[in-house]
Amino acid sequence: MNKNNIFPLAIGTYGLGASRSESWEENNNELVIDEEEMKALIYSYEQGQNFIETSYIYAGGQTMKFISEFLKRVDRNKLFITVKIENFIEKVADIEEQLDKYLNILGIDYADSVLLHTPKASKIPLEESYRELKRLVSIGKSKNVSASNLSINQLKMIVEELGIELFSFEGLYNLECKQNEDVGILDYCKKHNILFINYQPFRRNRTANHNYPLLVELASKYNKTQNQILLNYYVKEKNIIPITKANKIEHIKLNLEALNFEMEQQDYQRLNDFRCEEFDKLEVDWEDVGGIPIYKFANQVE
Ligand SMILES: NC(=O)c1ccc[n+]([C@@H]2O[C@H](COP(=O)([O-])OP(=O)(O)OC[C@H]3O[C@@H](n4cnc5c(N)ncnc54)[C@H](OP(=O)(O)O)[C@@H]3O)[C@@H](O)[C@H]2O)c1
Repeated sequence: MNKNNIFPLAIGTYGLGASRSESWEENNNELVIDEEEMKALIYSYEQGQNFIETSYIYAGGQTMKFISEFLKRVDRNKLFITVKIENFIEKVADIEEQLDKYLNILGIDYADSVLLHTPKASKIPLEESYRELKRLVSIGKSKNVSASNLSINQLKMIVEELGIELFSFEGLYNLECKQNEDVGILDYCKKHNILFINYQPFRRNRTANHNYPLLVELASKYNKTQNQILLNYYVKEKNIIPITKANKIEHIKLNLEALNFEMEQQDYQRLNDFRCEEFDKLEVDWEDVGGIPIYKFANQVE
């Protein structure tokens, strides 16, 4: 599957499979499938949503087991599956070992892309980890390499020094948190044809809960929900791919409908100009040396 075939709204999986689970700690409990949740995921697939990403740390492994069940019910070849490598890579061989474990749980022979959840996952130099991801592509365990939560310098190093053609970059971007844009990562991805996948596009509904006057006004003007205004903005104005987790078919329908309208350019411009002071007061610790790393940034403000 190439970049042009990726549906403009990606499927998030954080917490999927956990609704019937007693614990989010890693556990070997047998997965109890919530069929409503499964129906919702299959509904997304049937509507053409084909980019899905997952991690073994979501819900203590339950999410991955849930997705393996989903993959038994759909055509795996119609999906682009990104798998995350987690804390900690102590030595190069740990990367292949993790990927093998996840492919085995998911019941698939290869990942469509593989990435490090955060640079901190790697206790060895980041370039060694990314060279290894590239090698895993050369032996067919993954079709592509992607990245997530990098600083602009780390991203440049991977693309320019290691010569890796990244498929996608998963990064925080939403109306209130534009830090990845401020440091040039959105532009860099555009320039290098790397799909920017923006996670927490609704900031888990906290953005809409603020009832910012601009969002309330646009929702009323276009007869949409605030979340639909947000998704429309990311796709139509920013040309990025929001990844949202939605357990409910009614939410998925609303999210898909958000792709089917246009706003006036002056309204997109007002969304471009929107800044959230509470977030702008904070600083991202791009090197992740004790401050607020980008992957924790969105949760710093209610
Ligand atoms: N690479 C990374 O470091 C990283 C970090 C964070 C997240 N991610 C990925 O990004 C995905 C999205 O982020 P997220 O799940 O944290 O946050 P999110 O997508 O901003 O918010 C998810 C929440 O929004 C609700 N929702 C979805 N559609 C809705 C609608 N139309 N109206 C009202 N509520 C709606 C969902 O409810 P229901 O489930 O009840 O429908 C869920 O509670 C994750 O699932 C994960 O796959 C990646």
